[in-house]
Amino acid sequence: MAGLIRFGISLESDLSKKFDDRLKRKGYSNRSEAIRDLIRQDLVDQQWQDGDEIAGAVTFTYDHHKRELLNKIIDIQHDFHSVIISSQHVHLDHNNCLEIIAVKGKPDEILKLSNLLKALKGVKHGTLGMSTTGKTL
Ligand code: NI
Repeated sequence: MAGLIRFGISLESDLSKKFDDRLKRKGYSNRSEAIRDLIRQDLVDQQWQDGDEIAGAVTFTYDHHKRELLNKIIDIQHDFHSVIISSQHVHLDHNNCLEIIAVKGKPDEILKLSNLLKALKGVKHGTLGMSTTGKTL
């Protein structure tokens, strides 16, 4: 592996035990991969804070029967077309729809889009998956 370095970490034994228990539950086979993921997560958090170009997904569930809600959801997505890569609509059951919107762009625009959608009356739950374009990781 190019540029691979090794370093030791000192930490309290009970913290180490908690970490190892957590790794087992998450399915990691060793500490190195778990620590690499923690570092990557911190770097992605930093990208969001720094206003770098990021990628992610806005996911929300809403009441299919609120007709005016559908129009509002579509209007908002048109307003944010420049950061929306694609969207997928899933009919969960007779009453509920799930929408997944893949996004790429500046964090403030993505957060605005996510907050507007989540705040709509009739949206039952929404999340913003904050990921990365992967270019600098
Ligand atoms: Ni639907």
